[in-house]
Amino acid sequence: MAYRWKNNLTDRDVTDEAAWLNRRQIMGGMAGLGLAGMASGARAEALEPNAYEDITSYCNYYEFGTGKGDPSKYAHMLATEPWSVKIDGMVDRPGDYALEDILAKMTIEERIYRFRCVEAWSMVVPWNGFELADLLEMAGVQAGAKYVAFETVLRKDEMPGTRYPVLDWPYVEGLRLDEAMHPLTIMASGIYGKPLLGQNGAPLRLVVPWKYGFKSIKSVVRITLTDTQPPTSWNKANAREYGFYSNVNPEVDHPRWSQASERVLGSSLFAGKVPTQMFNGYEDEVAGLYQGMDLRKFF
Ligand code: MTE
Repeated sequence: MAYRWKNNLTDRDVTDEAAWLNRRQIMGGMAGLGLAGMASGARAEALEPNAYEDITSYCNYYEFGTGKGDPSKYAHMLATEPWSVKIDGMVDRPGDYALEDILAKMTIEERIYRFRCVEAWSMVVPWNGFELADLLEMAGVQAGAKYVAFETVLRKDEMPGTRYPVLDWPYVEGLRLDEAMHPLTIMASGIYGKPLLGQNGAPLRLVVPWKYGFKSIKSVVRITLTDTQPPTSWNKANAREYGFYSNVNPEVDHPRWSQASERVLGSSLFAGKVPTQMFNGYEDEVAGLYQGMDLRKFF
């Protein structure tokens, strides 16, 4: 089995330093392990995660309201047990997979990622989750599949925001298959080692760290493999402002505001704004996915 980077590293895990550094570069930083000094030569940066309080109180989850504080107030209304994820479309083993069965089969890792919202704020989140590729391999992706579509649960009585036509519910998102299979793309089930709270997309949400936050769809109940580019909620709501790809790009402004910089949430380290990085700092890992594409056209 391929080398896997786990949070609780042992000496044995780090004997192959070259492999470890390589993995570390892919992960784009590991704060809190006290190993930053080892990374001389590697493009590594210790990311300082935001406080649990910030991550769980300043949220976007429109199914519970459009205010940043609404999700933490109302998301507890959503019953997340039992939970299953329907995996269908172009897969060998379609079905309704119980969440506990999924979690039992997957390797849960900690991934400390930058998270950049299209609204130009950002934070650093220590997610717990597994690679989406592993889940897709479990279902058996068929030749010919080119995209992955995702859907959030829709229960009007448990999700007060869905009584208003803010978006065309249910919330849907999509990735190209190679984006979905990329090792940086994870399904998160926790933050700081605790199960996800409702406001952060309990019990299972997508995290794609090089894309604007709205691609990271919450409370996923369906994953469909398809050969056509799936519709996505924000693109349906306003195609001029929100594209299918939505890769973080400081050079392509939102029609109504600049994307050149971002406000780091709850940070005392930075006064005001910091420059936004191409692909949110994951350029070395993901730029190859978009070679030959006009990033202004495919925004
Ligand atoms: N998923 C659903 N189902 N509904 C939403 O409103 N908001 C998106 C994304 N996923 C959203 C969603 C947006 S705009 C962002 S920035 C992130 O979730 C916010 O994730 P967080 O609240 O955990 O920081």
